[in-house]
Amino acid sequence: MQADYSPAPDLLKERVIAVTGAGSGFGQAAAKAYAAHGATVILLGRTLSKLEETYDAIEAAGGAQPAIFPINLESLTEQEYYALSETIYKEFNRLDGLLHCAAQLALLSRIDDYDLETWNKVMQVNLTAPFMLTQVCLPLLKRADDASIIFTSDQVGRKGKAYWGAYGVSKFGVEGLMQILAEETENSPLRVNSIAPGAARTALRAWAYPGEDPQDRPLPEAFMRPFLYLMGPDSAGVTGQAFDAQAEKL
Ligand SMILES: NC(=O)c1ccc[n+]([C@@H]2O[C@H](COP(=O)([O-])OP(=O)(O)OC[C@H]3O[C@@H](n4cnc5c(N)ncnc54)[C@H](OP(=O)(O)O)[C@@H]3O)[C@@H](O)[C@H]2O)c1
Repeated sequence: MQADYSPAPDLLKERVIAVTGAGSGFGQAAAKAYAAHGATVILLGRTLSKLEETYDAIEAAGGAQPAIFPINLESLTEQEYYALSETIYKEFNRLDGLLHCAAQLALLSRIDDYDLETWNKVMQVNLTAPFMLTQVCLPLLKRADDASIIFTSDQVGRKGKAYWGAYGVSKFGVEGLMQILAEETENSPLRVNSIAPGAARTALRAWAYPGEDPQDRPLPEAFMRPFLYLMGPDSAGVTGQAFDAQAEKL
């Protein structure tokens, strides 16, 4: 991505893009940014009221009417994943992009004390769910002329850091999933990349750093350029790459 990259206003015109974690933080900022650049956005997340907030903001800004699908990635069954992709197929008959943003941190602890139940829950939401959602969406994404999958990662998933437990390991897994899928699809118009978004003012960050003044951190909106670049046609041919949104901040 060029240092002065500036997305065209109609970058994502006529595209249908699904975003998980679309009710808050990076997912909400990306859903709004995608809609502002012409996409119809499918809002996926756990809390209906938060998804409705994103929906209202997109409508108020004049974006295309989004769709809302409340899903709990901790408990979604295989059948429900297939039902979701079937609904996307029936409602839109296409899917051009998939952004995985939903994640849980749940626990900061040394490995000695990390409990199995929390480990399994974090792995389910942060790694198994992106795998499964990607798998059921692949047929539609592969049909598109130009499609993109973005996994939201973290620096602690690129270099291990004490106490980040299942969250850190799940992000290492996400990076691996991204690389494997990128290689498996390298001769297709589908690209697959990850973004480590950098420190931003979100609920997840506030939970991890309770002593930090949230006002010292920018809002996720400040990091949207790589999310737009990788989702739109300007990144055609870019695949298997790990991006650092901190470095790409506006
Ligand atoms: N903020 C940062 O500084 C930072 C730094 C590095 C990486 N990240 C990454 O950025 C991504 C977004 O995080 P964020 O910072 O924007 O935090 P956030 O606002 O807390 O967003 C996390 C989202 O995940 C959703 N979610 C959690 N559990 C879910 C479940 N079981 N089913 C469905 N959705 C679920 C949440 O929905 P509910 O609110 O409805 O529970 C929420 O919308 C994450 O992948 C995170 O690892 C953030």
